[in-house]
Amino acid sequence: MGILQKLGLARRKTHFNPSSLSRYWRAENGGDRYLTLYDEARRATGSTDNFLKQCRFFALMQMVDHVLAKGIAGDVAECGCWRGHSSRMIATRLTEKGWQGRFFIFDSFEGGLSDLTTQDRVGAGDKGARTEARQKAHFASRRDDVAAALATFPFVSLHEGWIPQVFDTVDLGERRFAFVHVDVDLYEPTRDSLAFFHPRLAEGAVVVVDDYGSSGFPGAQTAVDEFRAEHPPKLFLEGQVGGAILVY
Ligand SMILES: C[S@@+](CC[C@H](N)C(=O)[O-])C[C@H]1O[C@@H](n2cnc3c(N)ncnc32)[C@H](O)[C@@H]1O
Repeated sequence: MGILQKLGLARRKTHFNPSSLSRYWRAENGGDRYLTLYDEARRATGSTDNFLKQCRFFALMQMVDHVLAKGIAGDVAECGCWRGHSSRMIATRLTEKGWQGRFFIFDSFEGGLSDLTTQDRVGAGDKGARTEARQKAHFASRRDDVAAALATFPFVSLHEGWIPQVFDTVDLGERRFAFVHVDVDLYEPTRDSLAFFHPRLAEGAVVVVDDYGSSGFPGAQTAVDEFRAEHPPKLFLEGQVGGAILVY
């Protein structure tokens, strides 16, 4: 099976021809570095795939590369790992670059999504109790499975519990963070993750929020917009297919 089939792009009914992008053309003709990393991590973690995620994670990995290239000193954190797809991609790239530091990952694991608030139930986010319950369960994962998928990365630690309470379970001391990935879908945990990490960011640190611009999870954008009004980043970039990048 070709990589376009594996990535679910080959038979997509769309005007978009993947091979018109050199990345996807290369994937079929000898391999593309990014898509190979994306697909390896997806398979290793049993994660789902879609084209928009491929695009958002491409921006995510560019920002990881940026932090590494600039030598921004500090640790790495992720809030919201589900089965570990983005975690494994980030950890793989950190390893490839011989990075020294720690990678802290926070998630409820078996708990899935936390409870929605009014900020989440806006527009397409107002889905009804049954869909909410289904989504909450869909994003549950087993900590042991994620630990197994990340076992080859000794600098990774998993912290299980609800955001923000789980932050109290880890002693970060004077640690500063060079890169934070926030992917928790909802208003409150996005708000609380940003509030927790902001005073701990290194100069030039990058925060990527995966759910910015999502119609199904509008609370994430509300949280980011409120946060950046109070703490303006040096650079703010909104992705065409969702996601936001904040550089401090
Ligand atoms: C969309 S998934 C993350 C996807 C992941 N980054 C990936 O690469 O597949 C959202 C995650 O946020 C977690 N989550 C949502 N609300 C949370 C909260 N209040 N505390 C801890 N984890 C939470 C869920 O358990 C779920 O694993």
